[in-house]
Amino acid sequence: MTAEFAVELQDVVKRFITPEGNALNAVDHVTMQIKNGEFFSMLGSSGCGKTTSLRMIAGFEWPTEGEVYIEGKAMGHTPPFQRKVNTVFQSYALFQHLTVFQNIAFGLEMEGAQKDEIEKRVKHVLEMVQLTGMERRKPKQLSGGQQQRIAVARALVKVPDVLLLDEPLGALDLKLRKDMQLELKALQQQLGITFVYVTHDQEEAMTMSDRIAVMSKGKVQQMGTPVEIYERPANRFVADFIGDSNFFEGRIKSLSKNEAVVFIPDLKAEVTGIPVSQGLVTGEEITVSIRPEKVLISEKPMNQNTFRGRVTNTVYIGTDTHVYVDLMGKRVKVFEQNRISRLDPGSFYTVGQDVTLVMMPENVLVLKKE
Ligand SMILES: Nc1ncnc2c1ncn2[C@@H]1O[C@H](COP(=O)(O)OP(=O)(O)OP(=O)(O)O)[C@@H](O)[C@H]1O
Ligand SMILES: [Mg+2]
Repeated sequence: MTAEFAVELQDVVKRFITPEGNALNAVDHVTMQIKNGEFFSMLGSSGCGKTTSLRMIAGFEWPTEGEVYIEGKAMGHTPPFQRKVNTVFQSYALFQHLTVFQNIAFGLEMEGAQKDEIEKRVKHVLEMVQLTGMERRKPKQLSGGQQQRIAVARALVKVPDVLLLDEPLGALDLKLRKDMQLELKALQQQLGITFVYVTHDQEEAMTMSDRIAVMSKGKVQQMGTPVEIYERPANRFVADFIGDSNFFEGRIKSLSKNEAVVFIPDLKAEVTGIPVSQGLVTGEEITVSIRPEKVLISEKPMNQNTFRGRVTNTVYIGTDTHVYVDLMGKRVKVFEQNRISRLDPGSFYTVGQDVTLVMMPENVLVLKKE
């Protein structure tokens, strides 16, 4: 019988004493529940505690406080080889002097598997990662993407319940990285194995994950599906870290059951009709945020949340043009999709042009101050 959760961290702390003599909570009271068969990512910038969390699941580190569960069992000090998880490291960690076959077979040989059993299973995982016929090559004779797939094959050959991957695509160029993202995701779906994936690349996390834990300074800031995290960020950190946002400081002027009126001093304006979540009070200082692609440049005023501004800069990036607009001294970013192919510079917004910006209330978010 399988437990409800493949992996669970309960109030886990990992405290390091640094060589400088300071105590540091690299992982600071983290609780997460990773479901069976889920593609779960830990996302955050360098030093936020992703690798340390993964190493505690793998058993290379033990929590200072709290507990790690795998398939419902408390792991305590269970060593890595007795956990039903396998790790793909960022550096691949392939044995350079061994062939592809020997690299993949290594773990099975250590377990004392029979020769024909080993051959059958190596052949099978090579088919899975589409590298049949490469058995006799050494890692050096493969491209970066192929080496990465060998590292995945080596981790899969022992049929783990959970695969832990620490920035496995970090070394690849952008195009190959995007191909591998889709391939890994397809492989995960086909095998039904739980993937716990570490990355600092938000687009990668969004592309691949069922759910994401956004981390900062050892803490989980928000856990949710890619859509939840992008459309309903829990706080300013998440709204800023995932995608782009315009922020305004504001104050709740009035509240009805479902809607707020917010006063924004910088714009000397009220934004009305914003849907609100629970727990806000009238008079509260809050942050208002709106995504750049959700600010509309309009021919004429459309609602009360309409502002006149002046274009200060435009950046053409192919799919979109980024238009920077000055609103009473405040810079607002607007992303306009280039839906029509054209070369005439005059057909785009130009610096100095006056424009009307509209913020539809349903696109404006009210974020609580931390
Ligand atoms: N063995 C250790 N002793 C002391 N401090 C450590 C140790 N390992 C990690 N740290 C510190 O713990 C924090 C978290 O490190 P961790 O490797 O988990 O970060 P990360 O999120 O994986 O970052 P990156 O994206 O750069 O790989 C960092 O500040 C790091 O310096
Ligand atoms: Mg790391």
